Amino acid sequence: MSETPVQLHADEHGSGLPVVLLHGFPFSGTIWQAQTAALAADYRVIVPDLRGHGHSPAPAGTYTMDLMAHDVLTLLDARGVDRAVWVGHSMGGYVTMAALRHAPERFLGVGLVATHPHADPPEKRLQRIQSARIALETGVGDLAMSMIGILFAPELDRQSETVQSVYRLMGGTLAEGVAGALRGMADRPDSVETLAALHVPALVIAGEQDRIVAPDVAETMAATIPDATFVSIPNAGHMPMVEQPTATTDALRGFLARLASG
Ligand code: MLT
Repeated sequence: MSETPVQLHADEHGSGLPVVLLHGFPFSGTIWQAQTAALAADYRVIVPDLRGHGHSPAPAGTYTMDLMAHDVLTLLDARGVDRAVWVGHSMGGYVTMAALRHAPERFLGVGLVATHPHADPPEKRLQRIQSARIALETGVGDLAMSMIGILFAPELDRQSETVQSVYRLMGGTLAEGVAGALRGMADRPDSVETLAALHVPALVIAGEQDRIVAPDVAETMAATIPDATFVSIPNAGHMPMVEQPTATTDALRGFLARLASG
C-alpha cells in the first residue's frame, strides 16, 4: 500500500460503535441512505465515497483494492477511529477484504453484502481492461446501460425511482473513476484464505435473485468464515440495500446489536 491515499468525501451520522458502509461499483455512499438513517440512531455510521466515485477525487490510474483500503484506513485515522465494523457491498467487499489483509487489528466485525472472495478469471480481467478503455474513450453510458439490466431482481419495475436513481448514479460517475476501479478489480487477488482466517464475527448478506454474485457463491463464502451468519434477502438482486432496505437494515441491526453487546 505504498501509493498516496486521497482524502475521501464521507458522510457521518450518529454516535457509538463505529460502522463503515462501503459502496460497490460504480455507485457512491448514497446507496446506503436508508441504512444510514436507521442505524445512526444507535451507531456512529461513516459512509465514504470510494476514490473515483461520488464526491471523492478521481485521479487517473489503477485503483487497486489495497489503495482503496488505504484511503478508507486514512479516513478512519483522520476521524480518530481505531476499530470499526466494516460493511462492504460488492467492490466495497473486495476493499474490505484488502483492508483485512493489511490491518486486521482495525476490525470489530465484517459485513459482506452481495460480494465474493474470488479473483477474476482471465477472460473477466480482459473484459474489465477493455471496458476501462471504452469508458475513457466514449464515457460511462454504455457501461451504465449494460449494468442496469442485471442489477435488480427481475420483478422490479425498470421505471421505478429505485432503478432510475441507481442508473443516474452510475451515469454520473466520472470515466477516470470507472476506469481506475475496473483496472483495480482486474488486479485483485483471491481472498479465500483471508476470510478463512477471519478473527471477528461476519455477516454475509445475499440477494436471492442476484445475477452478478450468485447467492450460492455468497453462501459458500459464509461457510468458509469461522464465525459467519448468512442471510438471504428475498425479492432482491445485487442491490439489496435499495431493493429491500428494511430487510437489509434489519439484518445489519441484528448483527451490530450482537457486536455491541459482546
Ligand atoms: C459491484 O457491484 O461492485 C460490481 O458488480 C463488482 C464487480 O464488478 O465485480
